Amino acid sequence: MTLASQGGVTSMDVFLEKFFPKVYRTMKESSIHENQYCKFDSQLLTSFTSSLYIAGLIATFFASTITRVFGRKISMLFGGVSFLVGAILNGAATNLAMLIIGRILLGVGIGFANQAVPLYLSEMSPPRLRGALNILFQLATTIGILAANLVNFGTNKIKEGYGWRVSLGLAVVPAAILTFGAIFLPDTPNSLIDRGQRDKAKAILEKVRGSKQVEEEFQDLVEARETSKQITNPWSNIMKRKYRPQLVMAIMIPAFQQLTGINVIMFYVPVLFKTLGFGDNGSLFSAVITGAVNVVATLVSIRCVDKYGRRALFLERGAQMFICQVAIGAIIGVKFGVTGTGSLSKGYADLLLVLICLYVSAFAWSWGPLGWLIPSEVFPLEIRSAGQSITVAVNFFYNFVIAQVFLAMLCHLKFGLFFFFACFVLLMTIFVYLFVPETKNVPIEEMNIVWRKHWFWGKYVTGDGKVELSQPKNVA
Ligand code: BGC
Repeated sequence: MTLASQGGVTSMDVFLEKFFPKVYRTMKESSIHENQYCKFDSQLLTSFTSSLYIAGLIATFFASTITRVFGRKISMLFGGVSFLVGAILNGAATNLAMLIIGRILLGVGIGFANQAVPLYLSEMSPPRLRGALNILFQLATTIGILAANLVNFGTNKIKEGYGWRVSLGLAVVPAAILTFGAIFLPDTPNSLIDRGQRDKAKAILEKVRGSKQVEEEFQDLVEARETSKQITNPWSNIMKRKYRPQLVMAIMIPAFQQLTGINVIMFYVPVLFKTLGFGDNGSLFSAVITGAVNVVATLVSIRCVDKYGRRALFLERGAQMFICQVAIGAIIGVKFGVTGTGSLSKGYADLLLVLICLYVSAFAWSWGPLGWLIPSEVFPLEIRSAGQSITVAVNFFYNFVIAQVFLAMLCHLKFGLFFFFACFVLLMTIFVYLFVPETKNVPIEEMNIVWRKHWFWGKYVTGDGKVELSQPKNVA
């Protein structure tokens, strides 16, 4: 929620005037005959936006250890509290330092949440619902973004000029949900077994499955724990040649997800539309529309992912994203020109919004949920925690880079920004076609078969794919 709400506040006049007076002045001074693409270009504004991702990136590695050693609950609680304090600091900010420290705390919060919540969900859910639950996490993200966009649309109307405080401060709502959820929810059976609390683990498993017949599953958890306990260092393990396909997926899938350019559209739609000459209200309203499209399309993906498969969604929706981006770039290019001094008629503005919605829905059917689902389902247990950290870190890293350079890119690449991301969409669609195997309906434990049969990864993954355990010590 916060990410989106802060994308929103950076387009609010009062907020800019208070914290970024220079940006505000430049913006006001640039009249229509000047370059519209550059009026928001400010290192300060971008460091405000991107400090969150760097904080989240670093925090996620600490979170992986805390999640493993102290349990998922503690990590979620830590994330929730950090997020809560960050939201309060942001809402009450009287200077830039408070704003940036608050944002770093929010970053730590999401770093922990992204590490622990998906793990919590997949450990708590029965295996047959795991895929759907995984996408529900993405659904929650999209609902948060929509809620933030609605809040911004409302608070922008507050005449007294404190609307931005309400926007930023309202992040306490998801923060409180996470914090109280973490206090009241039980820890996962897997984590309890890991920490030697077997009786409690069994009681919780019986409770969440609603049955006393859990002996088989409980034994599986105990055995999985025994096996993975023998892997002392998941970080050096993940570097082994036989895990190369998973490592490549852990890095490339989140990187590509961000390189679709989705956050340029989602979080900067208000800035983008303002650049294009829409008023404050018009630009925030279009953000509400794209937010709603994102939620609805994510619901569609929940229904399609196990029916049509991952590859079909990736390939078809990749083509849709590519076409939309080229068309958006072309319209802005023709209407605004290289100097950015043109203007957009109502008809073209509407067409632009339709194209943006088509692009967002294509993302929400493919790279949005699959960007998280694919990495989470291809790691074998012994490298799953390390893999999840890499995925979160890479995702945040690219999020950071794009947030950091977006305004400068808009200023220098102008409408070419959309062609830039379109090239990446083409590249990633080819990557999926060649290197991402279909994982639909394949049990996680049998994923190795998929790699072994693959024309390229087959060279790396051989044998039965079982974990090579080190020899137990003291064997006579
Ligand atoms: C991405 C976010 C993005 C969101 C949009 C997520 O899967 O990781 O960066 O903002 O989707 O719905």
